[in-house]
Amino acid sequence: MEKENIYILGIESSCDDTSASILCNDRILSNVVADQKIHAEYGGVVPELASRAHQQNIVPVVHQAIEKAGITKAQLNAVAFTKGPGLMGSLLVGTSFAKSLAYGLDIPLIDVNHMQAHILAHFIDEENHNKPPFPFLAMTISGGHTQIVKVTNYFEMDVLGETIDDAVGEAYDKSGKILGLGYPAGPEIDRRAQLGNPKAYQFTKPKVDGLNFSFSGLKTNILYFIQREVKKNPNFIDENLNDICASIQYTIIGILMAKLKLAVKQTGIKHIAIGGGVSANSGIRKALKDAEQKYGWISYIPKFEYTTDNAAMIAIVGYLKYLEKDFSNFDVMATARLKI
Ligand code: KG4
Ligand code: ZN
Repeated sequence: MEKENIYILGIESSCDDTSASILCNDRILSNVVADQKIHAEYGGVVPELASRAHQQNIVPVVHQAIEKAGITKAQLNAVAFTKGPGLMGSLLVGTSFAKSLAYGLDIPLIDVNHMQAHILAHFIDEENHNKPPFPFLAMTISGGHTQIVKVTNYFEMDVLGETIDDAVGEAYDKSGKILGLGYPAGPEIDRRAQLGNPKAYQFTKPKVDGLNFSFSGLKTNILYFIQREVKKNPNFIDENLNDICASIQYTIIGILMAKLKLAVKQTGIKHIAIGGGVSANSGIRKALKDAEQKYGWISYIPKFEYTTDNAAMIAIVGYLKYLEKDFSNFDVMATARLKI
C-alpha cells in the first residue's frame, strides 16, 4: 500500500521574520519568508514594530505558501506554529493565527519549540544533505541564542551549555554597530573577514567554565580597543576595516570551536550539526570542515536558506510530532522564555 501523504503548514513568527511553509511528509513544497527591513533603521529589532509587521504579513505569507505548494487548505493535515522562545508580541500573532486556522479547518494544532526546530531542520529531506544519526551534538548559534545541545532522539534533547549573556549573533551585530556597519552586521563582518588578516589584532577570549559561553566581555574589549585606536587615528576604522572584521571573526570562531572540542571530549560524540543565523558564517563552516580532516568529526551544515528563521523548520517538527500524534490543546499559550 502506498504511504499516505501528510501535508503540514508551518508558521514562524518568533522574531522579525514572518514565514509560512508547506511540507508533504519531510519534503518542502514551499517556504515563504517575509523579513522586516524596518528594523535596520533602528539598529536592532523593535518588538512593537515587529508584531505590527507580522500582523500585516501573516495572511499574505500563508496564502502564498499554500499557493506555491500547489495544494488547497482542505488538504492540510495539521497546522504547526512557533510557541516560543521569542518576542511575546510576535509569537502571539503566529499563535492566534495558527489556532484560528486549525480550529476553522478542524485539524490538529501542533506547538513547536523554535530552538528544537533549528536543530530538527536537519531532518528535512534534501538532496545532498545527510541527516545526522543519533546521538549527535547540535550547536545553535543565532541572534538570540548560543547553545550546545546533545540530541539523543527527535524529542530528547539536553542543553549541555549556553551563553550566560549575549548570543553570538549579538556579538556580531554589536561589534558591527561599534564599527558603524548596518544591522544585522553578521553577514557584512563575515564578507569583510574573508578579505582581511585574522591575526592583525588580538581580542581577549572570555573565561567561562564548562560548555557555557559569554560574549559581552568581547564586545566591551572591542569597543575600548576601537575607541583607543580612533583617538590616535580618526581614520583607523576605515583604513583597517577588513583586518578588524577578520580579527573579530577569528576570535569568535575560536571561542565556538573551543567549546565544541570540549563537548566532543566530554560526550565522545563526533557528529556535529549547526543551526541558526550564524551557521551561515563562512568561518564556522570552514572550521567544521577542517575539523573533519583534523579530528575525524562529521559535520552537518544546513542549506543557506534554513540557517535563518524560517517556517520549513517549524513544519518538519510539526510532521515529526504529527507522526507521534503529539497535538496541542487550543488553550496553548505563546511562551517567550520556552526551554528546550
Ligand atoms: O537565526 P536568526 O535569523 O535569528 C534569530 O533567531 O536570532 O539569526 C540572526 C543572526 C544575526 O545576529 C545576524 O547578524 C547573524 O545571525 N548572521 C551572521 C551571518 N549571517 C547572519 N553572523 C555571522 N556571519 C554570517 N554570515
Ligand atoms: Zn532562530
